[in-house]
Amino acid sequence: MKKIYLETFGCQMNVSDTERVATLLESNHFEITPNEESADIVLFNTCSVREKAEHKLYTRVGQVRNSKRKKPFIGVLGCVAQLEGETLFKKIPGIDFVLGTQAVGRVGGAIERVLDGQKNVSDLGVREENYDWTTTETQRHSPFVAFLPVIEGCNKFCTYCIVPFSRGREKSVPADVIVRQVLQLRRQGVREVHLIGQNVNSYRPQSEAGLENFSGATPFSRLLRAVAATGIERIKFNTSFPRDFHSDIICAINEYENLCNWVHLPVQSGSNQILRAMRRGHTIESYLQKIDKIKNSRRKISLTTDIIVGFPNETERDFLETVKLVEYCEYDSAYIFKYSERPGTPAAQISDEITMREKTNRFKKLETIQKHNQIKSLQSFVDQTVGVLAEKMSSKSSEHFSGHTTCHKVVNFISNRDVLGKIVNVKITESKSNSLFGIIC
Ligand code: 5AD
Ligand code: SF4
Repeated sequence: MKKIYLETFGCQMNVSDTERVATLLESNHFEITPNEESADIVLFNTCSVREKAEHKLYTRVGQVRNSKRKKPFIGVLGCVAQLEGETLFKKIPGIDFVLGTQAVGRVGGAIERVLDGQKNVSDLGVREENYDWTTTETQRHSPFVAFLPVIEGCNKFCTYCIVPFSRGREKSVPADVIVRQVLQLRRQGVREVHLIGQNVNSYRPQSEAGLENFSGATPFSRLLRAVAATGIERIKFNTSFPRDFHSDIICAINEYENLCNWVHLPVQSGSNQILRAMRRGHTIESYLQKIDKIKNSRRKISLTTDIIVGFPNETERDFLETVKLVEYCEYDSAYIFKYSERPGTPAAQISDEITMREKTNRFKKLETIQKHNQIKSLQSFVDQTVGVLAEKMSSKSSEHFSGHTTCHKVVNFISNRDVLGKIVNVKITESKSNSLFGIIC
């Protein structure tokens, strides 16, 4: 039986794609191995959102190609494969096949062709109509937490972003398919599902199937209610697009305890001028109205975001507006990125007057300010008792476990019994810079 090693770069969508690729290959009689050295075929599922992620592929292919052992076949999947296509064969010698973001369902066929001796195999085609979104228990990143794509692609074309080019247009998975999967995952012991997509709240399925009995102001808030009604213990969802974030999502969170109290709402910048140049489709005023609604919700909702520092020609004044916004929103956590030029995007055409040194300084300043918010948010949990899904046992001791709260804080805790897969009450005794620490009650 041929052995396959899979390595994933990038977002949750890529993790989820890898899980389905592994599921498919396992059912096609390949063995999925965690050991790269013993693999006959090495697959890289790639990310192109920033330059650094793309470079990782070049480094890793080089390492595999130059290692002393018998050479495996190498396949490149995902965003870099979709964007570069067959040019990758010239750019990175040693690659045997490329498979685009929507072609992952045909991975078995591509590998068979490579094993038959075909050179430079590529498939950049669209997803098949009857694509199977399910994953098998053994190939999920966790036995207790599952990622479930509800919408793929992106129609927003923010000027800095490559995703609409690598992942194509938005396409929603029918609600009845999603609900059926959640019920199946629940039967298999999954306690928490993450409904994922580049913009989950732009969810717009072609049919009503699965939504008929659920009301709501948008198809997404109806989907949230439909999934909540399955009774699965926890439902998280990300990423939300600010323009399409309807307050009915907050109403749904307040109605259903199993809809988790966490919203990830990327703002990207605190300056209206930069938001316009980014073509984000929201202003600071419209964003803050949504933030205020989230903050005034009956249930306390944790709030996280993404920010890009150093967009072309971002002035000191623009940056200070971002600082002001971050101080106002007091995000529980934020992913802060330095702008990375992506060839082919409109922003890459702008001639940029701001030095890299200045961008780095701004990045560091913002990180320090946000760190302060994060520490304050984590400290507010000390002495409280929180529900934690025990996801992992520590490698160093069978008494140390880790998991997440409903509001997505990482909690490490001590327990004298095996609690894996259970939602347990943990008394928080200490807050660290990125996580909480406590003792099971
Ligand atoms: N440069 C830096 N960060 C980017 N992101 C997307 N494109 C770029 C880019 N060109 C960030 C955004 C997005 C997150 C997933 O990645 O903040 O929300
Ligand atoms: Fe990229 Fe904007 Fe789409 Fe997010 S919404 S994936 S940032 S284009």
